[in-house]
Amino acid sequence: MRTIDIITKKREKNELSKEEIDFFVDGFTTGEIPDYQASSWAMAVLLNGMTARETTDLTLAIARSGDTLDLSDVVDLAIDKHSSGGVGDKTTLVVLPVVAACGLPVGKMSGRGLGFSGGTLDKLESIPGFRVDLSTEEFKKQLHNHGMVLSGQSVNLAPADGKLYALRDVTGTVPSMPLIASSIMSKKIAAGAQAIVLDVKLGLGAFMPTLEDARELGARMVAIGKLAGRTTVALLSDMNQPLGNAVGNALEVIEAIDALHGGGPADFWEHCIHVSAEMLVLGKKASSYEEARTMSEETIADGRAWEKFRELVTAQGGDVSYVDDPTKMTKASLIETVNAPRSGSLSQVHARLIGEAAVALGAGRATKADLVDHAVGLIIHHKVGDFLNEGEPLFTIHANNAKQLEKARVDVLKAHLFSDEDVQALPLFYD
Ligand code: URA
Repeated sequence: MRTIDIITKKREKNELSKEEIDFFVDGFTTGEIPDYQASSWAMAVLLNGMTARETTDLTLAIARSGDTLDLSDVVDLAIDKHSSGGVGDKTTLVVLPVVAACGLPVGKMSGRGLGFSGGTLDKLESIPGFRVDLSTEEFKKQLHNHGMVLSGQSVNLAPADGKLYALRDVTGTVPSMPLIASSIMSKKIAAGAQAIVLDVKLGLGAFMPTLEDARELGARMVAIGKLAGRTTVALLSDMNQPLGNAVGNALEVIEAIDALHGGGPADFWEHCIHVSAEMLVLGKKASSYEEARTMSEETIADGRAWEKFRELVTAQGGDVSYVDDPTKMTKASLIETVNAPRSGSLSQVHARLIGEAAVALGAGRATKADLVDHAVGLIIHHKVGDFLNEGEPLFTIHANNAKQLEKARVDVLKAHLFSDEDVQALPLFYD
């Protein structure tokens, strides 16, 4: 079998066999297939798609590219959640401690930033010392001892996804339904969770632009989960505008800390409670959605979720004094607030443009080797439907470079559209 033939076959819109997919994934994992051939293959998949059968075979091949965890000797039932990627999505930082505080163990494998979309690992690394490179033994031990663990790919789970994910990030091959479905589900299957809640985002700042696309991605992932014997639920949520206000690594951690203290933006708080409640129902810790919501809210009100978050930070080597006093977190040298250029109702707060502006400030990567600047990012003060008077604060830029700040000022202003008519607020969830 030759890699070039597999690439050509996909370029010509033909269906790859299981053997060809296994050959590609194995060769890429060991390094025998170089990045340039893998990028070409990924672009052919993005342009020509994959059948449901190919997507399932790809998912299972990636899941088998490293260790696959069996967590049954550690906990009775482990749950996991995953978002399909978006702007300002720091949900995991709140949901993990909430759910764990309700007694449901969560073993999670997260990703880094991908294109304009942020990544949980990059966010957590703004806390000095926080380790995301746990070994398999450490992953299992922490899940057993603390009921909560969050790791990156170094744990040797689905290493093919780690490599492909980094390559896709910088080769324009992120927004592909089969590549996203296999990337997410391979990690979930390898990490051993028996129940999975998927948060499939749709809209301007999501990899799936329409409700129809998001529904198909959700359905594909649920079908793969079922095949792998995992109970899987997909929620469809809005990503036309950023979730919450903060976009950028340390800024998002600070917003998550606010939410864990019962504050923070209302949309973000509601999103976290909804996802937590779905996880508690799926994990059989609550008999109804309403009961699960109440349980989730209580963990925040009585401080248990906050204590769990501190426990997570400490268990993974993070300096807890930074989360206790977020003013210690890394700060950008240039902070500037831009005001509304006119009065009116906001008709658009374009999430992708805002995500791209954050990446251009240094919050994400343009090449695989780029280092993330944890301090930079944006605070977006308003939501679609809000009425503003001219001169009211619209957004705040946190930059470490004057040229980048100037560019962000222009780009983020363009992301905001005003209307003279009243504008409806956007829904948080569709399905
Ligand atoms: N999240 C992932 O883990 N993979 C993708 O491809 C997109 C979002």
